[in-house]
Amino acid sequence: MRTETPPIIRLTDYRVPDFLIDHVDLDFRLQPERTMVTSRLAMRRNPAGRPDASLVLDGDDLTLTGLAVDGAPVPAQAYNATRDSLSIDGLGDRFTLTVETEINPAANTKLMGLYRSNGVYCTQCEADGFRRISYFLDRPDVMSTWRVRMEAEKAEAPLLLSNGNPVESGEITGTGRHYAVWDDPHKKPCYLFALVAGDLDAFTGSHLTPSGRKVTLNVYVEKGKAERAAYAMDALIRSMRWDEQAFGREYDLDLFNIVAVSDFNMGAMENKGLNIFNDRYILASPETATDQDYHNIEAIVAHEYFHNWTGNRITCRDWFQLCLKEGLTVFRDQEFSSDERSRPVERIANVQTLRAAQFVEDAGPLAHPVRPQTYKEINNFYTATVYNKGSELIQMIRLLIGPEAFRAGMDLYFERHDGEAAVVEQFIQCFADVSGRDFAPFMRWYDQAGTPVVTVTSNHNPETGRYTLHFRQETRPTPGQPEKHPQVIPIRLGLIGEDGTELAPDELFVLEGETGSRSFTGLTQRPIPSLFRGFSAPVKVVIDRKEGDLLTLARHDVDPFNRWQALQDAATDLLTRSVRAIGEGKAPLDSTRLAEAVASLIAGSQQDPAFAALAIGLPTEGDLAREIATEIDPEAIGLAIDHLRRAMGRLVREPASRAYDTLSQPVPFSPDGTSAGRRALRAQLLRYIVAADPEGGARVALGQYEQANNMTDRVAALTALLPCEGPEREAALAAFEKAYGADALILDMWFALQARVPGSGSVARVRALTAHPKFTLANPNRARSLIATFANGNLRGFHAADGSGYQLVAEIIDALDARNPQIAARMATAFRTWRNLESGRREKAGSVLRTLAGKANLSRDLGDILERTLS
Ligand code: TRP
Ligand code: ZN
Repeated sequence: MRTETPPIIRLTDYRVPDFLIDHVDLDFRLQPERTMVTSRLAMRRNPAGRPDASLVLDGDDLTLTGLAVDGAPVPAQAYNATRDSLSIDGLGDRFTLTVETEINPAANTKLMGLYRSNGVYCTQCEADGFRRISYFLDRPDVMSTWRVRMEAEKAEAPLLLSNGNPVESGEITGTGRHYAVWDDPHKKPCYLFALVAGDLDAFTGSHLTPSGRKVTLNVYVEKGKAERAAYAMDALIRSMRWDEQAFGREYDLDLFNIVAVSDFNMGAMENKGLNIFNDRYILASPETATDQDYHNIEAIVAHEYFHNWTGNRITCRDWFQLCLKEGLTVFRDQEFSSDERSRPVERIANVQTLRAAQFVEDAGPLAHPVRPQTYKEINNFYTATVYNKGSELIQMIRLLIGPEAFRAGMDLYFERHDGEAAVVEQFIQCFADVSGRDFAPFMRWYDQAGTPVVTVTSNHNPETGRYTLHFRQETRPTPGQPEKHPQVIPIRLGLIGEDGTELAPDELFVLEGETGSRSFTGLTQRPIPSLFRGFSAPVKVVIDRKEGDLLTLARHDVDPFNRWQALQDAATDLLTRSVRAIGEGKAPLDSTRLAEAVASLIAGSQQDPAFAALAIGLPTEGDLAREIATEIDPEAIGLAIDHLRRAMGRLVREPASRAYDTLSQPVPFSPDGTSAGRRALRAQLLRYIVAADPEGGARVALGQYEQANNMTDRVAALTALLPCEGPEREAALAAFEKAYGADALILDMWFALQARVPGSGSVARVRALTAHPKFTLANPNRARSLIATFANGNLRGFHAADGSGYQLVAEIIDALDARNPQIAARMATAFRTWRNLESGRREKAGSVLRTLAGKANLSRDLGDILERTLS
């Protein structure tokens, strides 16, 4: 076991800082293995802090090489420096503190603080990475203006970037070194500090704001890849315009820089004026990126840009308030994508993600509120709950008070809190003030974990025409929260007749207590309720439906989200019953009626291909596992889905082939949502065609692979081939590696495709790939492409009955932990549902987890995840 247990940090322990830092002056002398950092801090005592407190600065793995107060060295007895803290006594009310540290960017494998990625110096400071650069008050409520000087070898790092504006630069004669000075006039906490030094190419653009500011835009990428930044630039300019129109927010500096690096722990980071990205979410061309990549780039570029207002100008008081910036900024990027593409399609995709990631998190040992009350390692709280459920809460606020009041509330928030480090209550108060609504009950959504289950019953009296819907909500206990209280649940609903006519128009019913009901009159025809339209609340709905009613809704509901949901429910119902039948040694259920509905959707799919692609898509293994929830048998789930896809494939073969052929006319590639929708539909059709006839289908897929003029169609062909055992699949995978394997991002796709190959050999295949010369744990994208894809996207493989999948993933996590704990901890969350497995697998997963948790020198990140997962 680990020897020291990390302290628990509690929201209720928050105290204002005892000292403030008005201005930061940083000087970096950059060298790969020995970088000298001099930090001059203009400090004063916080009048609201404790008057006699000593100064305690945070550090992490630091070496102190110098310390002075107002220019005079601090005597040894007046301070205490360790690798992770620096405390100083006897300070006055106002002083300049000079702190010198020496760091080694080349040896920084955690990718937090200052590190090297492909020879480029870059930083990542959120949440607490700045303390790996210099001793500091590393907390988001300490906000300062910053001036940064960097010097480096000119040949190695001709480009020197930091936050704000460049103010000075020059050569250091006779040394081959040069320097640059940057100034950021906007106050910011240290987690938004960034520095980049390297040799990169730029894709340049510009944007004129409504108030007349001309902003220069740069996207810096690896040399020779500048054209691949064109789409990111386009997305950036559209984001800037959208924020001006949708939220009245414009950019506040003359320069906005984005830098793409290949070694990065997450998607991207919103450092003021200098966003740093995982290059996966910047680089794109039709030949190298899929439609999903284009979509991700658009969404993440927008997300980081939107943080400039929601995150940077108004930041978080403490890390418990993380959803204040993240949930809100996800909401903003989802709105942007909905306006730029198809709103219903975006909504469906976002809900798929929410259910796959957040509902699962909320149902297991890692469940936590959108605003947690305690944490041991903050990096483990950048979760689907904080981000995606956090966004759903904003969506509900807008639904409850309407779009105009919502916009007024946002305006008030920006006006009231600009330049501050705020808390969730202050944000919510703005909506209360503009709407007059009491938001006190709504705060429970921030503080209570778990997904509410809303059970719906109804009665209808055809004689009197009276129809009543009864709602009852319940939230199951989650770790640390045995008692649950009712949530405020907005339910958008309407009624549809059996003949498809609209019997009652769309309305909003708000369930406030444990139970509630809504009555209608004048209904002689039996109504079919359409509930939670547009997924109006992040809840699970339990309602007894007939297949016929679901298919009526699928055809006639006025709400596109619910048309999609109805078909998913019909398929899920069939599949769960089939899984049960398989478990009892019986045959899977008949799917003719569902297939008829899908066939008619396919026949009409030219209308809205992107929507049709989602509507005809079957629930995933993960969807089904979540639905079944206990005693999960991944093998039976896989068999039931395979069987359904095959049976349906045979029944829809004709319309599917016809539609597939129509969509196969060659067209020039365009990444827009409509074009992507046509490719997505064609990909879904191909999967049915292959399922119906593996041999003939494999030939069709190979044909698509060979004729493709873009990466999306190519990857779709390979995806369709994955279930086809045999030489075609292996040949196609080998050809793909040969043709594109030199490009790191495409090789990642290749590893990810292999990680998804179903069947009994998949553990051996993945294990063999860990010995591939280009597999490495040093690059997070590469490690994730093979291992996280396998653990999260290959249910039958990861959960192989003999436990070999668990063993393999645990070995990798163990090896990763020594180098990059953040990535190791994230990977370990793949085990979060282990208690819901059938007993054999549960035992094997439990034993693998306990062995891992018993290792010496576990990181705080991994230790925290394992401890909670096992509790
Ligand atoms: N704040 C970033 C975002 O949501 C994400 C982030 C948090 C991050 N911590 C990080 C990125 C660590 C990289 C590494 O946009
Ligand atoms: Zn964010």
